[in-house]
Amino acid sequence: MHLRKIAPIAGMAVLSVSLLAGCGGGSNSSDDNAASSGAAADCPLVDAEDPGNSEAPADVPTAENAPKLAQSSSYSVAFSQNASNNPWRLAETESMKSEAEKAGIDLTITDANNDQSKQIADIKGLIAQKPDALFIAPITEQLGNVVKDAAAAGIPVFLLDRDVDHSVAEPGTDYVTVIQSDFIQEGKRAAVQMAKATNGNATIIELEGTTGASPAIDRKKGFDDAIKDCPGMKIVVSQDADFTRAKGQSVTETLLQSHPDATAIYAHNDEMALGAIAAVKAIGKEPGKDIQVVSIDGEKDGLKAVQAGDMYATVECSPRFGTSAFQTMADYAAGKPVPTLIINSDQLFTKDNAAENVDKAY
Ligand code: AHR
Repeated sequence: MHLRKIAPIAGMAVLSVSLLAGCGGGSNSSDDNAASSGAAADCPLVDAEDPGNSEAPADVPTAENAPKLAQSSSYSVAFSQNASNNPWRLAETESMKSEAEKAGIDLTITDANNDQSKQIADIKGLIAQKPDALFIAPITEQLGNVVKDAAAAGIPVFLLDRDVDHSVAEPGTDYVTVIQSDFIQEGKRAAVQMAKATNGNATIIELEGTTGASPAIDRKKGFDDAIKDCPGMKIVVSQDADFTRAKGQSVTETLLQSHPDATAIYAHNDEMALGAIAAVKAIGKEPGKDIQVVSIDGEKDGLKAVQAGDMYATVECSPRFGTSAFQTMADYAAGKPVPTLIINSDQLFTKDNAAENVDKAY
């Protein structure tokens, strides 16, 4: 079972809500950035409700064939983090550390510095240390072989926040489970917000996350699928900006030169969106007016940008995995059934709730 297989269900939910809302009867406006113009586009997303969080399908198999974990009062656990280059990653690492401390777990953490070959070497080094369990936040989906190596060494692996290629590493056998947000649903939720921000008329620059990473693949897919019903919304260029603010800025600078008609930016995370906002301002345009920005994550600076009107909305992708990570591990050790896919619950941040959430953000 893979999360991508359940996404159409969530997509249908978006559409049915929209159709029930009876929208889409208006004409295409010549004002391409029509958020405040009152022009209605022939786009069912404009009046759709936020499709909300998705649930894992009921038929997700449980992990039956992965290495077992004995119950113990003193676990030694390893965590291969893929990078520490943004607030999201730092918050995820902090969440793992603090929950391990509370549970009396001895946690070893490695940081791959966003370098896939380093992450493979890190994981091989951790396997050699024979931890009781291994958590991995993979950079890309191409880490299946080293996940298999860990399983072959008898170590139960739990994937955090990103998945690996299932044709290489089998869920429930080569790893116990993946705990993650539904990235396709995030893309769909972002598309609904973009439709609202632009009234369904948008010439969009897309800033993609790291090529090959599951959030980059799925956030693109979710957004693309959702805007198919909106003839006025077109992605004119998509480029990898590696989930970082610096690349978000430099890539946007370049793309705004080749696409001066762009009226919207869809960024796969807040860091890239914040870089993009700086690039928009640098050419004398106003984010939130000349160019609408929609993003994903919900970090503190992202919420501040929403409050300031620079960003229209950001779809939450929570980095706080510690509690569910160690609870899932304990359940697995206790012999309870653990589904091979566990979906986090995320909310949506807009100007209506950014102020009440900004202090809690990371
Ligand atoms: O895998 C989740 C993504 O990775 C977050 O959106 C991003 O900010 C992080 O680097």
